[in-house]
Amino acid sequence: MCGIVGYIGPREAHPILIKGLKRLEYRGYDSAGIAVLNSTLKVYKTKGKVSDLEAFLVDKDISGTIGMAHTRWATHGEPNNVNAHPHFSQSEELALIHNGIIENYAVIKEELIQHGYVFQSNTDTEVLIQLIEYIKKSSGSTLLEAVQSALCQVVGAYAIVILSKTDRSTIIAARKGSPLVVGIGQDEFLLASDASPIVEYTKDVVYLDDEEIAILQRGEKIKIKTIRDVEKHPEVTKLELNLSQLEKEGYDHFMLKEIFEQPKTIRDSYRGRINEGNDVISMAGIIDHIDRFMNARRIIITAAGTSWHAGLVGEYMFEDLARIPVEVEYSSEFRYRNPIIHETDIVIAISQSGETADTLAAIELAKSKGAFIYGICNVVGSSIARASHAGSYTHAGPEIGVASTKAFTAQVTVLALMALAIGRKRGTIDTPTFHRLVAELQTIPEKVEQTLGLDKDVKEISKIFTYSRNFLYLGRGYNFPVALEGALKLKEISYIHAEGYPAAEMKHGPIALIDREMPVVVIATNKGTYDKVVSNIQEVKARQGRIIAIVTKGDSTVKGLADFCLEIPETEEMLVPLLATIPLQLLAYYIAVNRDCNVDQPRNLAKSVTVE
Ligand code: F6R
Repeated sequence: MCGIVGYIGPREAHPILIKGLKRLEYRGYDSAGIAVLNSTLKVYKTKGKVSDLEAFLVDKDISGTIGMAHTRWATHGEPNNVNAHPHFSQSEELALIHNGIIENYAVIKEELIQHGYVFQSNTDTEVLIQLIEYIKKSSGSTLLEAVQSALCQVVGAYAIVILSKTDRSTIIAARKGSPLVVGIGQDEFLLASDASPIVEYTKDVVYLDDEEIAILQRGEKIKIKTIRDVEKHPEVTKLELNLSQLEKEGYDHFMLKEIFEQPKTIRDSYRGRINEGNDVISMAGIIDHIDRFMNARRIIITAAGTSWHAGLVGEYMFEDLARIPVEVEYSSEFRYRNPIIHETDIVIAISQSGETADTLAAIELAKSKGAFIYGICNVVGSSIARASHAGSYTHAGPEIGVASTKAFTAQVTVLALMALAIGRKRGTIDTPTFHRLVAELQTIPEKVEQTLGLDKDVKEISKIFTYSRNFLYLGRGYNFPVALEGALKLKEISYIHAEGYPAAEMKHGPIALIDREMPVVVIATNKGTYDKVVSNIQEVKARQGRIIAIVTKGDSTVKGLADFCLEIPETEEMLVPLLATIPLQLLAYYIAVNRDCNVDQPRNLAKSVTVE
């Protein structure tokens, strides 16, 4: 979704702003713009990529040591030059960039039109800056007071940055429901919607909270006030991010780099959480709230997209190991139902970005009904992490490719740890089983490494299916969510229609689709239901569908039936998703590359979905 960068300090602002926008490109966007303050307040913006903006700026005067820049992902109004940010106020005294949605913009716009305001764009953002100007001029208030008053009137989500032509040493920024980070450097401040544009300049950051306004002035310390004028003490935290984590490091795409990082990221997800004797799993979020877990009558897992798939794997794990009933809910559905939630429920919210608007709203709903909220997030300090009562970070490092890969396996790893830790405490798994599973979990990075050795085979197979129009993915039990995830990866980055199904459901409809044009990916590693999956493969074969099978090393039955077979190392059933997902990620990747698709920034998609 939209990206924000801001700078105030002794250096030229625009190179920092443009570089910052490039670091935020992964979030997905359709237009870009910049504002700088020099002799006057200048705004330049264009539809297209940051490189288009750079080309547009070549002959423009963009010097100045204070400025802001934006990448827009259209919500209100199509992607074009006018709707791109920054937006000027009517007198062009103020300019604003904005992430989020002002829900009551139409009513405010109507009132402003009555007061003679004219609008250039179709955006809700322009309404906000016009409102701020109107309040400032009509009440004679300062810019800060006008911003406070306007933000008390708006309904919705925002991360905003404002520049004023008449105050050349101040940036005002605020957030509610959309992230904003302030970097504190030597006599300079940076601002961004995540830490990636900041880390190059400073590791000291302040994450703004909802309804907080940062006042950044040259030569002064950061000041924070709420929209209701309460002064707040800025809490400075140290970034753990490294610059190298934001580079491709020789890979053609971030997605490929992130797929290959998985041996390390899975290890990082359990590192420090298992003791040497493999008999204790320590997760502070569980230990500190152990009574909640001991007394839990039900777990509700809420998430979106890939994180929802991880939640489905978690459902099997918690039911198998901790014997707690689990429901897995799409956040977007859950928030608008009238769900029955008890105080004895634990709601686990899973989110890579920690900013998904629907998941945040689902948390707020569950919280209001007394449930205990456990967040599983990748981005440290993110909104969902902060809105949860407790939680665990996945420690996968920044995920830049829009299609989630290493975040998924890290989420599954954390869910496995949780299910094991809770099962152990509740006495629902015996000691030898616990030891065996914990030991096996620690072999997974090595087995992922071996699975990545399938890279060349998958690349070859991908060539055969580059122009397929549909794909079916089948799996049972723990492999059903893997089938869903494989299908989602392919859809997202190659734009091929794909569906994931529980293998046995095929007979109830999708079998009608099978003909010689239909590739069917079957994950056939299950021990308990192996014969049944083999029968499903036979059914596909009988209709001339082409089978790509993921099997356990040494399998001969499926090998004899499938057109292509990819062997993964043997592991415990509950850990198979950590291996079986890898060839599916690679298959989607190579097909997308063959089709010349923009792998890291697929069309229409955003990395962090901060609007509904
Ligand atoms: C798929 C993908 C999305 C996200 C979904 C939730 O590759 O990336 O489906 O999983 O938008 O995002 P988070 O996990 O950030 O809440």
